[in-house]
Amino acid sequence: MADRNVKISKQNIEKQKEFMLLIKKNLGGKKAFAHVETYGCQQNVNDSQRIEGMLLEMGYTLTDNREEADVIIFNTCAVRENAEMRVYGNLGALKHLKKKNPSLIIAVCGCMVQQEHIAARIKAKYRHVDLVFGPHTLWKFPSLLFDVTEHKERVINISGEGVIAEGIPVHYDGGAKAFVSIMYGCNNFCTYCIVPYVRGRERSRDEEDILNEIRTLSQSGVREIMLLGQNVNSYGKDRGETDGFSRLLEKVCEIDGIERIRFMSSHPKDISPTLLHTMAQNEKICNQLHLPLQSGSNRVLSEMNRNYTAEKYLETVKLARTLMPDIALTTDIIVGFPTETEEDFTKTLDILREAKYDSIFSFIYSRREGTKAAELENVATEEEINNRFQRMLDVQNALSYECNAVHEGKIEEVLVEGRSKTDEHMMTGRNYANKIVNFKGDDSLKDKFVKVKITKAQTWILYGEIIEILDK
Ligand code: SAH
Ligand code: SF4
Ligand code: F3S
Repeated sequence: MADRNVKISKQNIEKQKEFMLLIKKNLGGKKAFAHVETYGCQQNVNDSQRIEGMLLEMGYTLTDNREEADVIIFNTCAVRENAEMRVYGNLGALKHLKKKNPSLIIAVCGCMVQQEHIAARIKAKYRHVDLVFGPHTLWKFPSLLFDVTEHKERVINISGEGVIAEGIPVHYDGGAKAFVSIMYGCNNFCTYCIVPYVRGRERSRDEEDILNEIRTLSQSGVREIMLLGQNVNSYGKDRGETDGFSRLLEKVCEIDGIERIRFMSSHPKDISPTLLHTMAQNEKICNQLHLPLQSGSNRVLSEMNRNYTAEKYLETVKLARTLMPDIALTTDIIVGFPTETEEDFTKTLDILREAKYDSIFSFIYSRREGTKAAELENVATEEEINNRFQRMLDVQNALSYECNAVHEGKIEEVLVEGRSKTDEHMMTGRNYANKIVNFKGDDSLKDKFVKVKITKAQTWILYGEIIEILDK
């Protein structure tokens, strides 16, 4: 069982609050802008909301515009090389801003810089970066920033182990949907993946801390919650509990005002029949499941250290569909894992057809320094891998369309997000399956539940007509 003394003490959090006030005092009422740019997954988005929450308490005004910012923060991702390349490219582009405004503070945080070789590279080659901190030191951001602003030091701090910090202010965007991290880190060490190295071991937040956060969100108008973790099925296991996640879900269902609950990600090796039953029994838990498959070949799954077989995975899918016939399934697939052969790849295509995913998130394998798979030889050429990737998209696009067509003619509840970005005459929202639904309507519908009759399906989107505004 993991060490449970991972929670940062109240006194230490209070100290950080003092630093926030000090920075505010030093700004002296002068208008100062902060710009936070987020790369990577929803957990990183949630971390950025904490960084923004702290910046607001320090007296900064948030801006989308790098040019007017006094502080720029890149919250980075390490999961694939292209995510890191984008950060380096964008960091390079900040050089001219720093030249124009030498008092500009540039910070880089998140998973990418938790890797020592990257922190060292930024220290040596990106001299215009003032502050570097990792996911484990995020809670100390106020004191680190204070050292930069007041002591004019360059600060690189990626020390520390996995921690849980409660009581950090969070900046929500005010919409009807919110992310809530329920656990941090990962114990699974899939051989291709960097996450366990940069995020540390699994640790679950206390149930009351999570529920209180959701109650507060509900009071401020949030109706849909996405519970986040690298493997939510492990929630509570670090405390020796079993089925802790199912129990947590049931408690979240009891919170008034929260109408929809989603979660991600679920690891197929840990998903339990209990969880599927809990989903089926509670109306507030959306019949939607993201269940990353990665590969359909048992040999590759074993090399990936995924700890399940394709057959076991399909059994889970079958049970989910029996209990929830309308369930929407999505997955993650990696194409071009080092030892993947054409035969292995064909098995992945077979499962796509058999599981019939509503949509997939597909990635070309990216070699991550320090992981086990980084030692393996590639057997396929880049061209072969690109070709596999394209074939997979072709297969999946047809399946996605078929899955969407099932919704045609149905009347579904949609939580409205706002105006469609692609068509300003349309409002846009999501149905229970987390599918985008566009329909004609006006701004007054934003953040409301409406009933929409689905009239047309396309591969990526559903269209419909509003039937009724729901008073939920
Ligand atoms: N914890 C989550 C996944 C987090 S990373 C889970 O296990 O479901 C999100 C996705 O990125 C993974 O599911 C995987 O498909 C992909 N991924 C991770 N490492 C990768 C790598 N080295 N190359 C390509 N894709 C990768
Ligand atoms: Fe990475 Fe595997 Fe952990 Fe997901 S479960 S974060 S893929 S190591
Ligand atoms: Fe997320 Fe990327 Fe880190 S996927 S956990 S931000 S490496």
